[in-house]
Amino acid sequence: MNAETPIPHRARRPAAPLAGTIAVPGDKSISHRALMFAGLAIGETRITGLLEGEDVLRTAAAMRALGAEVARLDDGAWLVAGPGLGALRSPDDVLDMGNSGTAARLLCGILASHDIFAVMTGDASLRRRPMRRVIEPLAATGAGFAARPGGRLPLAVTGAAEPLPLSYRLPVASAQVKSALLLAGLNARGVTEIEEPEPTRDHSENMLRHFGASIDIHAQGTGRLIRLRGQPELRAADIVVPGDPSSAAFPIVAALLIPGSRITIEGVGLNKLRTGLFATLREMGADITVINAREAAGEKVGDLIVAASALRGVDVPADRAPSMIDEYPILAIACAFARGPSRLRGLAELRVKESDRLAATTDMLRANGASVAIEGDDLVIVGGANRLGGGLVTTQMDHRLAMSALVLGLAADAPVTIDDARFIDTSFPGFIPLMRSLGADIAAEGAPA
Ligand code: S3P
Repeated sequence: MNAETPIPHRARRPAAPLAGTIAVPGDKSISHRALMFAGLAIGETRITGLLEGEDVLRTAAAMRALGAEVARLDDGAWLVAGPGLGALRSPDDVLDMGNSGTAARLLCGILASHDIFAVMTGDASLRRRPMRRVIEPLAATGAGFAARPGGRLPLAVTGAAEPLPLSYRLPVASAQVKSALLLAGLNARGVTEIEEPEPTRDHSENMLRHFGASIDIHAQGTGRLIRLRGQPELRAADIVVPGDPSSAAFPIVAALLIPGSRITIEGVGLNKLRTGLFATLREMGADITVINAREAAGEKVGDLIVAASALRGVDVPADRAPSMIDEYPILAIACAFARGPSRLRGLAELRVKESDRLAATTDMLRANGASVAIEGDDLVIVGGANRLGGGLVTTQMDHRLAMSALVLGLAADAPVTIDDARFIDTSFPGFIPLMRSLGADIAAEGAPA
């Protein structure tokens, strides 16, 4: 984050319902992967709809530093030409991954499996996040890692000259760890086998197939077994990045909560390992309709029509968490306005996101009058009882908390202020003007509405 000074913002209930048609920026997970896989393929890949948020720009810079040609042609249109699998070079300088856990963890897989030396760091939030979950399994390729105590960034990687294939069962459901291992397995001779305890977003698998790799996936128990044959010839293949369902979540919940609203969001990714929030909101009584369902570069896409709805409380099972892991802060806002109690189960992983999102979501709601408690790894919210709003939310370098708090302010009885809106750009550049185009009342604190 470049600008030094925090930029507080305030959201208040708009005079009229939200209305209009929008598109949200490209999917963050797919955008990172597109740049990385294209950088490992032979030939030129044209990417359209790339998310140009700060997190993804860090990945673009890192791939460039490793020897890929990465050029921006137009808004969201990028051209990537890789030196080919195994042909990356050591970067001249430290790789700064900013706020992005996905960029940092996935890149570890690439670095571990190339004969190079690299040092990686990030901002204060990323330097607090656990990297051991990738370091430990990736060390089995033959790579050497040195990190700060607790496996925190900065870290140094000496990649393996002859990387070994991996065989690993993930202890926690994590698409980042799975993808780091797949990226490492790509440059290893032999078959890499990964077992995940529950299915997590499979964008890496879809994209590997799209680039011609040989990968097979089998259901196993509650999860999956993924087998990737190493050293395939990855062939450049154009990619159309769908709108990010995790970003669509914010205007969706705002439209559901502001009476009389009706909005359309075009081109949203609908991979079923990402749409747990939509299923949950529907269980709560949300009126969300999908039209124009289609497919783009191996991913499902559709347009969503969302109409304001009276929501009721919900009990979300723990096994749904991987399909909506980034959506709990905004779901918690919906629950605070729903009638009756909600229980969101099995949220231990939220403690190691851009912030401790379990604690931060609780603080956000409590500061605005909601009834909320953490019970073990569950979040319990009793909706509909109190007048909401009026609070100041400390966003802790966390884009999703910032956007959730602003949506809370749009629906609440009293305005909500956030201490800093800058981190929103990591995943959703243009969030505030886009929300304003629908009629939302969000402004820099002190600025006229
Ligand atoms: C992501 C996976 C999830 C998610 C993150 C993006 C990915 O993290 O929270 O925002 O692109 O693979 P975990 O793998 O840590 O659950």
